[in-house]
Amino acid sequence: MALSFFTKNKKPLLARCRDDYATKMRLKYAPYYHAMEYQKGTTVKLDGREMIMLSSNDYLGLSFHPKVIEAGRAAMLKWGTSTTGARTSNGSRAYHVELEERLAAFLGREACHVHVAGYISCLSSVASFAQKGDVILADKNIHSCLWDGIRLSMATVERFSHNSPDDLREVLGAVSADAVKMLVIEGVYSMEGHIARLPEITEIAEEHGCFSVLDDAHGFGVLGRQGRGTVDHFGLNDKVDVVCGSMSKSLASTGGFVAASREIIEYLRTNSKQTIFSAAISPSQAACAQASLDLMQSEPQHLERLWANTRKYRAMLKSLGLDTWESETPAVPIVLGSKERVYPFWKALLEKGVFTVMSIAPAVPAGKDLVRTAISAMHTDEQLEKIAEAMAYAVKKM
Ligand SMILES: Cc1ncc(COP(=O)(O)O)c(C=O)c1O
Repeated sequence: MALSFFTKNKKPLLARCRDDYATKMRLKYAPYYHAMEYQKGTTVKLDGREMIMLSSNDYLGLSFHPKVIEAGRAAMLKWGTSTTGARTSNGSRAYHVELEERLAAFLGREACHVHVAGYISCLSSVASFAQKGDVILADKNIHSCLWDGIRLSMATVERFSHNSPDDLREVLGAVSADAVKMLVIEGVYSMEGHIARLPEITEIAEEHGCFSVLDDAHGFGVLGRQGRGTVDHFGLNDKVDVVCGSMSKSLASTGGFVAASREIIEYLRTNSKQTIFSAAISPSQAACAQASLDLMQSEPQHLERLWANTRKYRAMLKSLGLDTWESETPAVPIVLGSKERVYPFWKALLEKGVFTVMSIAPAVPAGKDLVRTAISAMHTDEQLEKIAEAMAYAVKKM
């Protein structure tokens, strides 16, 4: 039998997994990876107890809409469960093209490409176009998928202060005028709920000849006409080159999209490894997203209800003196400032039957440790009242 210290030296990666402090802490306190035993709309069951889901991204509440469910079922019956292949080779189907055309038309773009995850769409929206020697101007608070895209591109990155046109201008002032430049921002910042200051930011980007990429995972379905997103909200469709996003939020499916001019999308299809070497989205995923897209245009009540709920919820949090980081959207953080305050608050909400998610530094900037909550059009008045009671209780428990 091998001596244990030899074994250890031979398998340093196994030791890394076994000894990882963050994993040990996660397993000890078990704040993440809760597997719900049941779900019906915004009601879930966890450890045998019914809870109100207050942290999903089902903004329009379409994940249990009968038309969305039926569309997914019918697509599976017609096309099977999977394409089992990449779009480049054997995985392309008529329904992919239809969904892409519908999304492109909705967003006022020439073309669109859909992937199996928003993470892939957003990552490849950066990595496919920027390359070594280029300069990427990135908002400090962008999502992990965009940072991964930046890293893969091998471009030089310059960060600017979160949502600050002044800092962007200053940072750009130090970048060579000849450099090929890309701006990377979000439309609605997922943790903060902030809307990008798009008019000022795109004006500066244009002055400096930046190609612009905007991740609208949390703006799509929420802002703009019928939920067309942040760019539409400001009427600036011609000022942003690439809009990418997720289909796992307002579109009540899974997958992601990249929308842009035809030239840009065809370039992505030729050059993006994530697009070329990854399987196409499944029939039911595509059908559910398309049915949700239809509903966004035919049933305005979901968007109206989402905003009515959001206003009510924000007013309630304000009355309790809670810091919502000036969120302007249904993604509402409750900033508590340290993990010592976040944990009891989160536990108290759980105790009162409200499920939320903790976000602790370094996932958020130091001092901004928070409980992330998100409102859905599906939350009922009764649920909002229960949430208010739970919040009042949690405030006392801090
Ligand atoms: C801003 C942002 N971009 C991209 C993604 C990735 O989307 P998906 O979950 O569909 O992979 C997310 C999801 O959390 C997100 O918040």
